[in-house]
Amino acid sequence: MLKTPAAPDSMRPAEPASLKSPRLSDLVVPIRCLGENHRTRIGNHLKALNAQDRYLRFGFSAKDEQIDRYVEGLDFERDEIFGIYNRQLKLIAMAHLAFSIDMRMNPSSEFGVSVLAPSRGRGFGARLFERAVMHARNRGVKTMFVHVLSENVAMLQIARNARATVERDGAESEAHLSLPPATLNTQLAEIVEEQMAQTNYQFKVQAKQFQDTFSRMQSFWRDMDHSASAE
Ligand SMILES: CC(C)(COP(=O)(O)OP(=O)(O)OC[C@H]1O[C@@H](n2cnc3c(N)ncnc32)[C@H](O)[C@@H]1OP(=O)(O)O)[C@@H](O)C(=O)NCCC(=O)NCCS
Repeated sequence: MLKTPAAPDSMRPAEPASLKSPRLSDLVVPIRCLGENHRTRIGNHLKALNAQDRYLRFGFSAKDEQIDRYVEGLDFERDEIFGIYNRQLKLIAMAHLAFSIDMRMNPSSEFGVSVLAPSRGRGFGARLFERAVMHARNRGVKTMFVHVLSENVAMLQIARNARATVERDGAESEAHLSLPPATLNTQLAEIVEEQMAQTNYQFKVQAKQFQDTFSRMQSFWRDMDHSASAE
């Protein structure tokens, strides 16, 4: 995307926040890896973004049909899609970590993210970035890229907080973060985090089923009451 690299960010501390060992607080937001069965909900999530957010996410104001094509093309085998669900099982945040075609020759990945407007400013975007960094390290990625519009303050802030190098070329910027190799810690942390996220999701599924059944029963009893009082 970028042709003329501009001055990189300077003053980088020794160890970027997102490269440090995972903290306990990092495990609080359950982020799970999404598979084929989440395709529809990924589409619904992206189509809930307004025109400006679609522009920031894709670099153009993607129409619904273009989002459909993007979602249809998601390769869950090669890439990793991360998601955060709320209690109503609505996908409120998601990230796509796309790996290079030839990981042996070019061990790199590209990160894209979106958080629904009502859920912003709560650290979900940053957490998804950290989760993607951990996964990328475990997959042997050496450099992670984010293509960002230069006006996208929030995404640039996430990248800068992770001590990524940001190079601006007019309206577009490219952030790249060099990743150290995986450790036993990053590998174990990812297994634990995924397990916790799966368990959390199953709880939400059961809680929602219970809630739906309860609401149906309530409306059934209400209808019964109405018919009894009408007689
Ligand atoms: C970019 C986006 C994912 C950020 O999600 P988020 O969950 O709101 O971000 P976070 O809460 O994790 O905030 C991350 C940082 O950005 C800052 N930030 C968030 N929104 C901001 C805004 N509107 N202006 C300035 N800074 C902002 C936060 O303060 C935080 O920095 P800090 O930790 O130094 O305080 C979200 O705004 C979004 O979905 N935008 C539309 C799609 C998009 O732009 N995708 C990125 C391109 S790939």
